[in-house]
Amino acid sequence: MKGVVVYASHYGTTRQYAVWVATELGFECIEAGSKGQPDPSGYDCVVMGGSVYAGGWLLRKWAERHAGVLAQKRLYAFTVSTTPAAKVEEHAAVVKRNVPAALREAIRFWHFGGAIDVGRLRFFHRLMFRMVMSLSKSPDAREHKRRGIDNVRRDDIRPLIDTVRSECR
Ligand SMILES: Cc1cc2nc3c(=O)[nH]c(=O)nc-3n(C[C@H](O)[C@H](O)[C@H](O)COP(=O)(O)O)c2cc1C
Repeated sequence: MKGVVVYASHYGTTRQYAVWVATELGFECIEAGSKGQPDPSGYDCVVMGGSVYAGGWLLRKWAERHAGVLAQKRLYAFTVSTTPAAKVEEHAAVVKRNVPAALREAIRFWHFGGAIDVGRLRFFHRLMFRMVMSLSKSPDAREHKRRGIDNVRRDDIRPLIDTVRSECR
């Protein structure tokens, strides 16, 4: 079966996961573009990866645009964010908000740890991040505000890889 990993990423965290996943699976790896590329119709299995900003999944528009074609494929997806994987309800809310109902049933989601390098953030993102950290009740918020966050773990992709390998052969 022919497969592709399609991703959307602002600072490269999701790109890194997408490359790891594509390399392990032997799939193509393509960034979603503003004109709706790539066209998923030539693939049997599609893995979709996008980071989360203010509750929005970056691959949302691409998935909506291709919903009709995607509905005929084997579908897998992942989010990349700083919300811990254990916060199941928060992740479910992001999926519900960002994925068309008709597709949601057909997609299996995984949630990977993201990263924030404060020095690399664009002005508006840095402002947003600092505001969120200032309002946060988390005991780590001050430290995160100063040093950023790095929860990227290559091992996180293992369950997704095992599932796709067993179903897309
Ligand atoms: C301005 C801003 C808003 C964010 N909003 C969220 C959010 O709503 N929920 C969340 O869990 N993570 C949030 N994050 C964390 C990102 O999802 C995380 O940094 C991710 O690794 C970014 O991946 P990318 O480099 O592929 O875009 C936010 C980060 C920034 C800088």
